[in-house]
Amino acid sequence: MGKPCWMLLWLGVAFLAAGVLLAGCGGRLPAASPVDEPVSGARTSSPVAAAASQATAAATQSATGAGLLGRGINLGNALEAPREGEWGLVLEEGFFDVIAEAGFDSVRVPIRWHAYADAAPPYALSEDILQRVDWVVAQALARDLRVVINVHHYQALIDDPAGQRERFLAIWQQIAERYASADERLFFEVLNEPNGALDGALWNRMLREAIDTIRESNPTRWVVVGPGSWNNYRALEALTLPEDDRRLIVTFHYYDPFHFTHQGAEWTDGSEAWMGTRWEGTARQMREIQGAFDQVARWAVAHDRPVYLGEFGAYSKADMASRARWTAQVVREAEARGFAWAYWEFAAGFGAYDPVARRWRPELLGALMPADAP
Ligand code: BGC
Repeated sequence: MGKPCWMLLWLGVAFLAAGVLLAGCGGRLPAASPVDEPVSGARTSSPVAAAASQATAAATQSATGAGLLGRGINLGNALEAPREGEWGLVLEEGFFDVIAEAGFDSVRVPIRWHAYADAAPPYALSEDILQRVDWVVAQALARDLRVVINVHHYQALIDDPAGQRERFLAIWQQIAERYASADERLFFEVLNEPNGALDGALWNRMLREAIDTIRESNPTRWVVVGPGSWNNYRALEALTLPEDDRRLIVTFHYYDPFHFTHQGAEWTDGSEAWMGTRWEGTARQMREIQGAFDQVARWAVAHDRPVYLGEFGAYSKADMASRARWTAQVVREAEARGFAWAYWEFAAGFGAYDPVARRWRPELLGALMPADAP
């Protein structure tokens, strides 16, 4: 292969559309960011991220999600709890070691920032949370893990977008200023899973305002943005982004079939009845994933945006064989399309790592990091 353009070659086969190929390969994006380059250090990026990095570094094509964030894992249930520890998990230095040693390229860190922000202007964030996040970011970067920090579980904003708008933007202004000169391997993600009242046109407006706020102090940092409807890929068509901002990565979450991935989930009404749902990897089940990811890939090429599958996982109440099969298939299909990904999540209810036994669950780690991966 003369030109390492594997994602787009795949798309070429899928769509047989020369115009689409030209749009993707034509170098309409600015030159790849230095974070696309494999980072030197104690460990190197995973092969898939490295391959994608080389491709993007050719500067004749768009950045890929894989080149930017590679393979990742969510540090869920820690800083997204009302207070760290309340959901059973406190982040430890050793977690970053095991994640890096397993070969991951990145971590996504869900954070309940609003729980640490004053209710009244200027909505000051507590120094405690800022120092804790400083520590998390430093731990990740020290191990050459790229790190995504987001705004998570801001339910008051979702319930009352107009009433919380000013506070939300003030929170982003403070986060952005705090990390304005941070390493470029730190990524911001505007809001986890907007939904309900905060969707459609209203979400597009709020997202735009948040991006503008971030850009005042971070003109070139990569920012992760996603569609409404809980970051569902079906809502991508409704997402509008500032055309001239080429440092945006588009995220989506994937938990289909929901009755399989969320069986027995205590926070999901009716999920007890789904217990025992298996995922066998039948041709129809495979096509369901492929169809969804094809739709995302088509959107990404048409809009010239890198993609980050920021959450996917199956809850621990499903049988392990099905979980491992489904996880492996999602990873395979994401990587075939050049998407970065982050498994939901590290060491809680979906956990790939057992924090009591202090070891990876081999079936899940094997699904995420197959020995025969490219
Ligand atoms: C939520 C988690 C939940 C997960 C799967 C995440 O976005 O923040 O609380 O466990 O999705 O449902």
